[in-house]
Amino acid sequence: MLANTENIVKKINQTLSKTSFGNKPKELYEPIDYMLALGGKRMRPLVSVLSYLIFKEDYEKAIKPSLSLEVFHNFTLMHDDIMDQAPLRRGQATVHEKWNPNTAILSGDVMLVKAYDLLLELEPEVLKEVITLFNQCATQVCEGQQLDMIFENRNDVTVDEYIEMIRLKTAVLLGFSMQLGGILGGAGKKDAANLYQAGVDIGLGFQLKDDLLDTFGDPAKFGKKVGGDIHSNKKTFLLIRAIELAKDKEGQELNKLLNEKDATKKISGITNLYTKLGVADEANERIQHYFNSGLESLSKVKGSIFRRGQLKQFITQLIERES
Ligand code: IPE
Ligand code: IPE
Ligand code: MG
Ligand code: MG
Ligand code: MG
Repeated sequence: MLANTENIVKKINQTLSKTSFGNKPKELYEPIDYMLALGGKRMRPLVSVLSYLIFKEDYEKAIKPSLSLEVFHNFTLMHDDIMDQAPLRRGQATVHEKWNPNTAILSGDVMLVKAYDLLLELEPEVLKEVITLFNQCATQVCEGQQLDMIFENRNDVTVDEYIEMIRLKTAVLLGFSMQLGGILGGAGKKDAANLYQAGVDIGLGFQLKDDLLDTFGDPAKFGKKVGGDIHSNKKTFLLIRAIELAKDKEGQELNKLLNEKDATKKISGITNLYTKLGVADEANERIQHYFNSGLESLSKVKGSIFRRGQLKQFITQLIERES
């Protein structure tokens, strides 16, 4: 099969649907199958496989270990949706809504274990390194998620604090995904480090874009509830900059809206203020900045120029994504 982006995603999906995570009790495993069957971009295993291809052509070998990234990602989403009280994921009911929060906790827990299972067949030479890096990354994701929750109750979060929070909760997993592909493909230390750095910067841009879509996305395409971040006082780049920029009357209005109980009023009022204050434009500039830095690190990676171009093309498309 031709190793283009579309075919690799197909292969990822085929392998994932053939992977059995368990059967009994069905109450534990059905939510996992449900979550994984909802789809999604499969971006983390994809960038891992594309990174592998920069060094080696037999990419089928990289599929199974790269699936660990997708299973881990879906575990974080299952728990994140409980924490964020999110009703929708990929256009369907979230696991804690369709079943209940306890189910989402436990099915998520076993997914984390299964993510590690997918790495067990790695060669001993790389296994220890990969697990060490995975553990570092997974710990940081939890740290970022905790900061994200702490920030809900603070109104003085700075842009720098926000960037550090999203680096932890989102960007390091993108970094690790690209690094993993590199390591499996036999990349040297320098190339692996550049892949990691590329992934982290792209991850920062990616989360900024996610925040933008959470307010300004098309509900039919986004697959999540638009306005959810505003509703739960998430300190997104948009809100942080709005708090910094809103003075006098606008400042008072924003303060009032932050305490507004009626969700519809709160979401539409704050969205209008974002537009007035021009914070979406600022976010777009930053997104471009982080993607450019990421692509610059990627351009330093030695190996197949064609495969690097393929990865660059996929990443560039993410800037304009709608879901
Ligand atoms: C959602 O990730 C969580 C964030 C880090 C913003 P994705 O946007 O990659 O979600 P799926 O897997 O494609 O649904
Ligand atoms: C998610 O951030 C990051 C992780 C799941 C670790 P969000 O809470 O913004 O992700 P979505 O928007 O629910 O996908
Ligand atoms: Mg969250
Ligand atoms: Mg969320
Ligand atoms: Mg979000």
